[in-house]
Amino acid sequence: MKVALIFGITGQDGSYLARLLLKKRYVVHGVKRRSSSLNTKRIDDIYVEPFSKNQNFILHYGDITDALSTTNLINKIKPDEIYNLAAQSHVAVSFDVPEYTANADGLGPLRILETIRNSKKKIKFYQAGTSEMFGKVDQIPQNEKTNFHPRSPYATAKLYAHWITKNYRDAYGLFACNGLLFNHESPMRGETFVTKKIVKALVRIKNKKQKKLFLGNIYSKRDWGHAKDYVEAMWLILQQKFPDDFVISSDKQYSIKQFINIVSKKLNLKIKWIGKGINEKGINSEGKIIIECKRKYFRPLEVDNLLGNSKKARKILKWKPKYNIHTLVEEMIAHELEMIHE
Ligand code: NAP
Ligand code: GDD
Repeated sequence: MKVALIFGITGQDGSYLARLLLKKRYVVHGVKRRSSSLNTKRIDDIYVEPFSKNQNFILHYGDITDALSTTNLINKIKPDEIYNLAAQSHVAVSFDVPEYTANADGLGPLRILETIRNSKKKIKFYQAGTSEMFGKVDQIPQNEKTNFHPRSPYATAKLYAHWITKNYRDAYGLFACNGLLFNHESPMRGETFVTKKIVKALVRIKNKKQKKLFLGNIYSKRDWGHAKDYVEAMWLILQQKFPDDFVISSDKQYSIKQFINIVSKKLNLKIKWIGKGINEKGINSEGKIIIECKRKYFRPLEVDNLLGNSKKARKILKWKPKYNIHTLVEEMIAHELEMIHE
């Protein structure tokens, strides 16, 4: 049986990756942080203390900013594969906590790489890189050869992680790989990311549980896929003969406003748009304002135009996403409808 260690097990991707690896009969170890309130809701159904329902699923306390805990865990578990998904992953928040973001997202992977380098065991390493590194893009669509131009403390920290992973691969022969993943969503997405925020709010507005949705820039464009498809790509990247870096994307692009229109159509919520810029508003069929823009949700710098070209992954990994924007949105809506009655 293969042994995997996942940093960031309690996050969206960690919860999908853990399920995928358990299905593939891995022993899965996950690292969770201590928090003042429970942070394991995405994985509670596959883990019950003290006797885990699933004996192959083991959780450990740790923190990627703590070199001792990171190194000790790797040396104790001696996994075959490490997936580093742990990060302060919110771009807007990274402007408020830049030093912490640099430490967790930039130096965190270095701590893992250095431990792998000093380990006798050959451990494969996956680093959760991001399309945010392309930032102010000079090429559309973006692929593995596109220049990087990060536009946030988050993207800048991730760029360090990207290069240090590549450097450890080149310098020390580590099986260390970067995934350059474009935005991926799911019912498990964090509440403050835009797709989840929109779907949740529009479902609640439709059901008269909420009056308004406040957003920032609705003209940026993103390439959205489903987390379930994207964690499969992470696994495939580590199953190749040689370590390499791959763009993972749907290769389709929508603006935030288009995303709102897709969700509202599926909910049969007729939205009319009026006004411009910060004064643009969405109005329902009764003439009530249900969507407004607020300055506080705009970022000091924006990434306007992300669109991936995942040709390399589709050819070499033979990766093919099962979801599209419509099936993704439908699954997210169905989940929010279930939650509304909880
Ligand atoms: P997420 O839901 O925010 O999950 C992040 C995970 O990292 C959580 O388990 C979090 O723990 C953990 N974490 C944060 N700081 C930590 C620390 N100091 N020590 C240990 N664990 C820590 O993010 P996601 O959407 O699953 O994304 C997974 C990874 O892929 C992240 O690195 C993200 O930057 C990257 N990525 C995401 C996307 C995307 O569209 N989702 C695209 C490209 C790259 P808590 O639960 O305790 O907060
Ligand atoms: N979060 C949020 N909240 N974003 C908003 C809002 C709002 O109220 N209004 C407009 N937006 C815009 C943002 O300005 C951005 O242009 C876009 O919606 C997407 O924002 P997020 O959903 O927060 O995602 P992101 O693209 O910034 O970052 C996500 O994807 C990256 C991959 O490209 C995160 O998952 C990152 O961790 C990931 O690396």
